[in-house]
Amino acid sequence: MSGSGKTTMLKILQKYYDEQYKGKIIVQYERNEKELKQIIPMIWRDKVGSVMQDGYIFNDTIAKNIAVGVEYPDMERLEYAAHMANIKEFIDDLPMGYYTKIGMEGTGISMGQRQRILIARAVYKDPEILLFDEATNSLDANNEKVILENLESFFEGRTVVVVAHRLSTVKNANKIVVLENGEIMEEGTHQTLTALGEIF
Ligand SMILES: Nc1ncnc2c1ncn2[C@@H]1O[C@H](COP(=O)(O)OP(=O)(O)OP(=O)(O)O)[C@@H](O)[C@H]1O
Ligand SMILES: [Mg+2]
Repeated sequence: MSGSGKTTMLKILQKYYDEQYKGKIIVQYERNEKELKQIIPMIWRDKVGSVMQDGYIFNDTIAKNIAVGVEYPDMERLEYAAHMANIKEFIDDLPMGYYTKIGMEGTGISMGQRQRILIARAVYKDPEILLFDEATNSLDANNEKVILENLESFFEGRTVVVVAHRLSTVKNANKIVVLENGEIMEEGTHQTLTALGEIF
C-alpha cells in the first residue's frame, strides 16, 4: 500500500537511518550473522545496488551514469548492463552513444529511460544484494516484461528485494510481504496469497 513504509525499509537496509529505528536487523555477513548497525556503511553499500524512486541522474555522460565513480568504464560491461535494462538500442541510436551527456544540462530523457539507466547502473555494479523500489513502474508492460526476463538469470545467487504495486512484477518472488501502515499484513507466495484471497 502507498505510504506503508516500503521506501523507508529499503533505506534502512542501505544504512541511511541507522540511528533512527528500533529493533534489530540481522544479516548474513561473511558467513556470520551480524547486526546491520555493526557493519561499516561504506563496506555494506559496496555490496548493495539499488534502484530507488528518487534515484539521481548525474550531469554527465550515459557511461558515467551507468558506471558511477568509475574513471574508465568497461565498454563490455556497459553494453551488458544496458542490454539487461533494455536501454541498449536507445543508446546505440544516439550519435554520441554512451558518451551522450544527460542530466540537467544534457539531453533530456523520459522517466522510463531514466529508470532503465538506473537499472543498468545497478547491474553494472554487480552487487550481492539488489534493492528495487518501484524500479519498473514508469515502463510499459512490454518493457517491464523484457527487463524482468533479462534479469531473471542476473538475480540468481543474489538477494533481491523488489518493491512493487503491480502484482505481476513480484509474481516469481520466493516470498511476498504485504505491508500496510508500517506493518506486515500477509506473507507468502503469489500462489498462497492468492488462495488466501484477502488483502493481496
Ligand atoms: N514503521 C514505521 N515507523 C515509523 N514511520 C514509518 C513507518 N513506516 C512508514 N513510516 C513513515 O511513513 C511515511 C511513508 O513511508 P514510505 O515513503 O517508506 O512509504 P512507501 O510505502 O514507500 O510509499 P509509496 O508507495 O508512496 O512510495 C514516511 O514518512 C515514513 O517515515
Ligand atoms: Mg516509496
